[in-house]
Amino acid sequence: MSVLFVCLGNICRSPLAAVVARQRFRLAGLAIDVDSCGTGRWHAGEPADPRAIQVAAAAGYDLRSHRARQLCADDYASFDWLLAMDTDNLATLRQRAPAGGTAEMSLFLDAAGLGKAGSVPDPYHGGLGDFEAVLRLVERGVDGLIEAWSRTAVEGGTGRSAS
Ligand code: 4NP
Repeated sequence: MSVLFVCLGNICRSPLAAVVARQRFRLAGLAIDVDSCGTGRWHAGEPADPRAIQVAAAAGYDLRSHRARQLCADDYASFDWLLAMDTDNLATLRQRAPAGGTAEMSLFLDAAGLGKAGSVPDPYHGGLGDFEAVLRLVERGVDGLIEAWSRTAVEGGTGRSAS
């Protein structure tokens, strides 16, 4: 199974989600490939935002090797799940979906069973506290994914819905 976390710039939210997911999926014994990207291309090739790197490091995650990349058409076939950090990202994902794309698209927090939490707020124009709040929310979300996907794995599914 594979999952691509998607935000706008791929320097704040989705890299944090990916680094948390890699660590926690591994600890949970789930063999799930993880990557992240942005719908925008402004930051392609750049490292994560220094504030994201800082709050990640304080919590024991190493984000230093991340380099931003933009969503591409192949992602719709390469990944089982495309998980959007907010409703704008999800709308963009759906708009750009190529014919024949097979990936399931969802809001990250919906897939995590935290539907009422809605979107992961964009911390880019905020402060360090906003990045810390994103990290905490992303950790809860990843734990929700682990719970949901462990259940479908036990039931013999791929983690996708039956549709
Ligand atoms: P992200 O945050 O989507 O969580 O990576 C943002 C990063 C950059 C911009 C917006 C959001 N930007 O406008 O450049």
